[in-house]
Amino acid sequence: MATPNQEDELTMSTDEFLEAQAELYHHCIAFVKSLTLKAATDLGVADAIHRRGGAATLSDLASETGIHPTKLSNLRRIMRVLTASGIFSVQHSDVVSDDDAVYKLTRVSRLLVKSSSYQLSPVVPVLVDPFAWSALLRMPEWLATDERASLFDLAHGCPLWDTTVEDGGLFKDGMAADSRVAMHVLLARCGGVFEAVRSSLVDVGGSHGTTAAAVAKAFPHIKCTVLDLPDVVAGAPANDAAVTFVAGDMFEYIPPADAILLKWILHDWKDEDCIKILRRCKEAIPSRDAGGKVIIIETVVGSGSPAAQQIFSKEAQVLMDVFMMYIDGIEREEHEWSKIFFEAGFSDYKITPINGVLSVIEVYP
Ligand SMILES: C[S@@+](CC[C@H](N)C(=O)[O-])C[C@H]1O[C@@H](n2cnc3c(N)ncnc32)[C@H](O)[C@@H]1O
Repeated sequence: MATPNQEDELTMSTDEFLEAQAELYHHCIAFVKSLTLKAATDLGVADAIHRRGGAATLSDLASETGIHPTKLSNLRRIMRVLTASGIFSVQHSDVVSDDDAVYKLTRVSRLLVKSSSYQLSPVVPVLVDPFAWSALLRMPEWLATDERASLFDLAHGCPLWDTTVEDGGLFKDGMAADSRVAMHVLLARCGGVFEAVRSSLVDVGGSHGTTAAAVAKAFPHIKCTVLDLPDVVAGAPANDAAVTFVAGDMFEYIPPADAILLKWILHDWKDEDCIKILRRCKEAIPSRDAGGKVIIIETVVGSGSPAAQQIFSKEAQVLMDVFMMYIDGIEREEHEWSKIFFEAGFSDYKITPINGVLSVIEVYP
């Protein structure tokens, strides 16, 4: 039973209660926004608007996306969520009827148009993923024990990496889309990071080579190799002569090179695993004077100017961090990064923030 002091702590006015209740319900129902965005992505709503010259009515959308006429009102409700969230915009005519509403793209939904060079729609199913959600639902029981297996292993009986080859390419396509866009921006903003690489680079966990191919194209003097798991390498395209593929395990051996690239790798692993991977990287590169370095492309939580951080808000960064818990991964702050670099035997590092989502970290032996 609560003591009088504890009861004081729970007291609130009716207005306060009503506001708190609305806020609580808002947080509980926020997942619907993710699911609605996923539905619109699967249906190709952004492409439909683009095909209609950038403006589409509800019935245009229905006919373009194959919505059954009996479900038109459901589509209207979905579009109401997505316009309230700023993912699409809507203009109404004078008559108050959603039937004359005209939907348009915003800067967010432009990223979902397949013909855009900034196309990120394949990333949506990677983040709005029922396998991740069902794993994260087990957080309370997992946190209460010293269980060493990750939430994903616990929920699905194997590590994430054993399933990505059999998911119809969804994960690989999502990562490839992210790499295409990220490298476009990175090479424009801080290409010097790669320009300084003497002659060879190994992209560890480089999947089907989208990132390595972008580096090889921009810097033909760099011989680019991708190291990934055997099943992933077996499905890699055979037609890209600029990239060599090597099957292996980064915990065991990394082929020698002037630079090792790790893009979205270390956030998949807990500290002790990152230290093991970084030690293998250190063994693979020459000294700093001879041009050796590790290039990490990841989030540094809280890094960059306040304006850059606003792009990927503090809340989004910490949400991504807890999302990564499903495979025992971590989004790290600078002090967490520096701890693993020094424990792995590196002597120095330099962070270049690109925006709130991505930073480039050069780590020196
Ligand atoms: C999150 S994905 C990142 C892919 C790519 N670097 C990118 O940014 O698009 C992680 C990659 O690490 C690979 N991987 C996982 N465990 C590995 C291991 N032990 N050795 C080599 N690669 C591994 C996976 O197959 C996958 O391609």
